[in-house]
Amino acid sequence: MKIIQVTDAHLVPERREMHGVNSYERLSACIEDIRINHQDAELCVISGDLAHKGQIGAYEDLARILSRLPIPYRLMVGNHDIRENLRSVFPETLTDQHGFIQSSIDLAAGRLIFVDTVEEGEKFGSFCARRAEWLAAQLADSSDNPVYLFLHHPPFDVGIPNVDRIRLRNGDDLLAETVEPYKNIRHIFFGHVHRPTAGSWNGIPISSFRGTAHQVALRLEETPHLVRSHEPPAYGVIFLNPHSTIVHFHDFLDKSAFVAEADLAKHRPLEPFQNDVN
Ligand SMILES: [Fe+2]
Repeated sequence: MKIIQVTDAHLVPERREMHGVNSYERLSACIEDIRINHQDAELCVISGDLAHKGQIGAYEDLARILSRLPIPYRLMVGNHDIRENLRSVFPETLTDQHGFIQSSIDLAAGRLIFVDTVEEGEKFGSFCARRAEWLAAQLADSSDNPVYLFLHHPPFDVGIPNVDRIRLRNGDDLLAETVEPYKNIRHIFFGHVHRPTAGSWNGIPISSFRGTAHQVALRLEETPHLVRSHEPPAYGVIFLNPHSTIVHFHDFLDKSAFVAEADLAKHRPLEPFQNDVN
């Protein structure tokens, strides 16, 4: 079963450039690439920082872009989002009983749980008793089926000091305690770091992707400011299988795919290879 993860779109009203990037055009290109190549995906998860400052105009642009996406999607909030503004444009957005934008969906591969880690007005993330109670109920109700968790903020350091300062800070221990009894959690997918990472946390596999707008540079030393970069934007193509989870990091603006001349000489392809369509 295939799903898609898109993250950190950082849309700006009036489609202005920010950090030398037009995030509207970038997200549009991303969604077009998904439309061409992944109409068979079950779901597209957009894991937060949808708008750069939570502006309603940015969410309206997001709605315009997503109208072209032919598969179901689930929106999550990041530290740059404002829940009330998001819900004013996307009133169907699911919340829990306390108004946190968190929900779950049962697919053939298992249960996908989308956790709200936002402390509104802060860059760092939070996890509180009310969210822990909700997540524990979602996990208890999963009946030992595979569970895949989605967060905006990672609850661990990734080794970049200026990113680690704004990770899930309040309640990372509570999150660890909440998930610890459940051995059916197959993977944690997150956003926020604007970089590709893979590894594990307390034995649970983890991964993240570059955003669709600007990125964060791999600067492992202390720096006075967060160092950003113009590494290529990406999204994730994820296979959730009974015995494996496969995560592809796809640079959707890269059009360099090719077939070697020697291979073309040996075998006639069934159809002409087109470098402009991935
Ligand atoms: Fe972000």
